[in-house]
Amino acid sequence: MEARTLDGKVAIVTGAGRGIGRGMALALAREGAKVVVASRTRSTVDAVADEIRAEGGEAIGVACDVGQRDQVYACVQQAVDTYGTVHIMISNAQGFGTEAAPRASTVFMAVEDTDEDEWEYTFRTGATASLWFMKAVFPHMKAQKYGKIINFASSSGQIGFEGNTCYNATKEAIRAISRTAAREWGQHGINVNIINPALETRAFDAWKTARPDFVEALKEKIPMRRLGDPERDAGPLAVFLSGPGSDYITGSTFMLEGGMHTLP
Ligand SMILES: NC(=O)c1ccc[n+]([C@@H]2O[C@H](COP(=O)([O-])OP(=O)(O)OC[C@H]3O[C@@H](n4cnc5c(N)ncnc54)[C@H](OP(=O)(O)O)[C@@H]3O)[C@@H](O)[C@H]2O)c1
Repeated sequence: MEARTLDGKVAIVTGAGRGIGRGMALALAREGAKVVVASRTRSTVDAVADEIRAEGGEAIGVACDVGQRDQVYACVQQAVDTYGTVHIMISNAQGFGTEAAPRASTVFMAVEDTDEDEWEYTFRTGATASLWFMKAVFPHMKAQKYGKIINFASSSGQIGFEGNTCYNATKEAIRAISRTAAREWGQHGINVNIINPALETRAFDAWKTARPDFVEALKEKIPMRRLGDPERDAGPLAVFLSGPGSDYITGSTFMLEGGMHTLP
């Protein structure tokens, strides 16, 4: 068999039970990575791991709520116990709503009405979870002088999209943490980059229900005139940012949006 870009590499992908996470997990496995498929629902992570194995790849499903510190560290430990180390860490999961009443996506809430439980939960499952994973994988990446960390943010945060205070804040915090780690950890052979996507997924469908006019108008605003697809569009970027092609790129935000925001 021909050598593949990620042969011998071990990846953790959170939020991989569906959507963008699933698309990236499949793509990494097709390039030879052993993948830890992580999200809360046992049946979905097992189904994606089965899908990977059915294609001849290697994967395990791990039920992990990224909002729980002990589960984050346990997930990384399980990757190390199973495959020896972690080379690629993709923090893609993001919680919405509150712990008691989680939602599939954001709903409009004016800044002055910001709910503090929602602030805490959105932040914990976003920025704090990304930081926990980064701290947990760092010793392994530093020791092997190889690490590719990909964190997920959103152009909503960059532009301060109305009604999204909690989400915008956690996503911009993720970018700030990522840039800081990029500067500190480059010397150890660790790259830290960010993806800002606009892709058709369940989170997007939930948003479509909440704001149908806005989402329809959005397609017209995207220069490529379509919403991206998790496998076709996120898969190749995740492989690139996980492999040797991106060795000299760190601290950067990749706009996977079909040109929707061409920010300077
Ligand atoms: N789709 C877009 O256009 C878009 C735009 C901007 C940013 N993003 C970002 O891209 C990432 C992926 O979004 P998506 O559209 O693929 O979402 P999605 O289709 O809703 O999938 C989310 C995944 O995350 C998991 N998840 C949710 N909360 C979790 C938690 N607390 N712990 C562990 N896993 C959890 C879900 O599985 P379980 O429910 O089983 O846990 C699911 O597998 C998110 O960070 C999102 O904010 C997406």
